[in-house]
Amino acid sequence: MNAHHAIPESSTAMPGAAGGGVRARRNGARFHLRDVTRGEHDDTEAAFAPFDLSKPAGYRAFLQAHNGALAALEGPIEGRGWPEYASRRGLLEADLADLGDAERPSAMEPPALSGDAHVWGAQYVLEGSRLGGQILARQVAKGSPTRYLSGNDEAGTDDMRPWQEFCAALEDEARRHGPQWLADVEDGARATFRLFREAAKIFSGTTI
Ligand code: HEM
Repeated sequence: MNAHHAIPESSTAMPGAAGGGVRARRNGARFHLRDVTRGEHDDTEAAFAPFDLSKPAGYRAFLQAHNGALAALEGPIEGRGWPEYASRRGLLEADLADLGDAERPSAMEPPALSGDAHVWGAQYVLEGSRLGGQILARQVAKGSPTRYLSGNDEAGTDDMRPWQEFCAALEDEARRHGPQWLADVEDGARATFRLFREAAKIFSGTTI
C-alpha cells in the first residue's frame, strides 16, 4: 500500500490553513519533511509488515518493538523540542499490560539528537506515526486494546488534534530558524525512523 495516499489530505490539514490555500501548505516545513523522508517512512512501514496484528503474539511483539524505540527516545526528547509533546508510552504500556506483558523493553541505543531541531525531527516522526496507527488499529483483533495505536484511551474517538497542533508549531519554528534548522530536523527524523526499523528487526526476529 502507498501509505501517503491512504488518508485523504483533509484529515491531516492544519487548522486555520484554509486561507493560505493548498499551495502554501504544501510548501511548508511539514510537507518538505514528508517529501524528503518518504523513503525512510516506506522502509519503516515495510520493516513492520511482518508483524501480524490480528494475532496476539504478533500484536504483542509489534507493541514491544514500539516500546523499545520509545524507551530509547525518552531521555533525549523529554522536556525539549515541541513544548506540548506528550509521550504515548503510558497508553502503550497499558495495552501491553492488558495483553499480559509486563516485561521491560530491551535497552536500545538512543539516537544522537544533539540539538533542539533534531528533537523536533524525532517528534515529527512520533506524532506523524499516529496517522498510520489509526489504520493499523483496524487490523487488531476485536477485544484487544488499541489505546496506543488509536491515540487515546477511549475506544472509537480518534484524536488528531496533537498532529495538527504539532504541524502548526513546526511551521512557526521553521520560519523563525531558517533552512539549517530544518535540515537538522530532517536528520533527527531520519535517525528516529532508523531507530524504529532497528526495533522492528529486534522484535520480529527477522533480518529485514
Ligand atoms: C507500520 C505500518 C505503517 C503504516 C500502514 C503507515 C501509514 C501511514 C499513513 C497512511 C500516513 C498518512 C499519510 C498522509 O496523510 O499523507 C502515515 C504518515 C506518517 N507516518 Fe506512517 N505508517 C506506518 C508506520 C509508521 C511508523 C512505524 C512510523 C514512525 C515510527 C511512521 C511515521 C509516519 C509519519 C512521520 C507520517 C507523517 C507524514 C506526513 O508528514 O504527512 N509510520 N503513515
